[in-house]
Amino acid sequence: MKASILNDEFFNNLDSSILPIEEAETLPPFCYTSDEFYEFEKEAVFNSEWLCVGRVSQLDKPGDYFTTSIVGEPLIVCRDLKGELHAMSAVCRHRAMLVAEGNGNKRSFVCPYHHWTYALDGSLRNGPAMEKTCNFSKSDIRLPPLKLETWLGFIFVNFDHDAAPLAPRLKYVEEAIQRYDIANAEVVGPHQTSVFPWNWKVMFENNNDGYHANRLHHGPLHDFIPSSMASFPKLPDDTAGYLRYNGTLHPDASFNATQKAILPIFPKLTKDDRKQLIFANIPPSLSLVLTSEMVIYLIVRATGPETNEMDVGELVAPGAKNVPGFSHLVEMIDSAAGKIMAQDQHVDELVQIGLRSRFAVRGRYSWQEGAQIDLNNWLVPRYKACWQQMRKSKLGTPERDSTSS
Ligand code: FES
Ligand SMILES: [Fe+2]
Repeated sequence: MKASILNDEFFNNLDSSILPIEEAETLPPFCYTSDEFYEFEKEAVFNSEWLCVGRVSQLDKPGDYFTTSIVGEPLIVCRDLKGELHAMSAVCRHRAMLVAEGNGNKRSFVCPYHHWTYALDGSLRNGPAMEKTCNFSKSDIRLPPLKLETWLGFIFVNFDHDAAPLAPRLKYVEEAIQRYDIANAEVVGPHQTSVFPWNWKVMFENNNDGYHANRLHHGPLHDFIPSSMASFPKLPDDTAGYLRYNGTLHPDASFNATQKAILPIFPKLTKDDRKQLIFANIPPSLSLVLTSEMVIYLIVRATGPETNEMDVGELVAPGAKNVPGFSHLVEMIDSAAGKIMAQDQHVDELVQIGLRSRFAVRGRYSWQEGAQIDLNNWLVPRYKACWQQMRKSKLGTPERDSTSS
């Protein structure tokens, strides 16, 4: 049997990924390819962090719901008849059928298999022909709830009921992007969901990356956002998110063939705001690309060691949808952004293949990759704290303790 690579030496070696960028190296390729590391990462990250699942605007009316899944957990997110939001497991408490699919509006969730019926808060209301079953009490049964928080119109859930609130640790990110007024921005249409054959961190690092901007994307659709104008503000150590600012060669730069905004500008932006793009990242699931006319949101959902799903949605200023030809203007943006994303996705797919190679190494960084260090600084302490916890509770199987002699 293959020995576990998860040991003290492995976790001590991660420290080289959180050195100053001039000295740091990338995370080990194993972190992107291994089943064992993915299972560890669920414990270290996904079981206790806030995970973005969608926008509040997907749940306008009482009874509205949508389903999603992350790290293999099927979830329902809904608005109950009193208007309160809930997130819960979609797995029926009878024999594990998923009680809802897709999205829509319901007064209750009726499991299609044997018609157990759950209220919108997840409590079991009815289980037909269960009256002869011993020690069965409907009132004890509910779809397990998740903690839920909203931030700027995004819905976040957490498997950990003791998780500290998210918003206080997003104070600095929120201040940096407040003039986009994302909470009140309007969604352009339903988001697009894609399934990808690469690790969620490959996706997230690509969303973060200033270095490739005018190299991989060299050409008239991106050259006006040069990598050389990227900067990475230092945020407090406990921040739940981080930022890249990227100056642009002209104001109101936009991803379309005219290179300039073609939709109404977010009205509170200053002259300086309009001379840059902001990339905001809230790991492990939400990346935002903020231009003067549109906020593109990317919800990355880990689905396995070498797979992820991503929802891509677009937000515009209130009232922007009323401008003549709005849908055609959005098509112009989608056409250019789609070409850029196709370049990214081609690279992501081949990076994942490269990471599996025996020749894959821990690489070095350019100064234009500051956001990768920010992600490492978010990840590595979580990995190390979880490993220490596992060792303490004897759930881990450390091979040797390299901290003692
Ligand atoms: S599995 Fe849901 S009612 Fe049987
Ligand atoms: Fe890109």
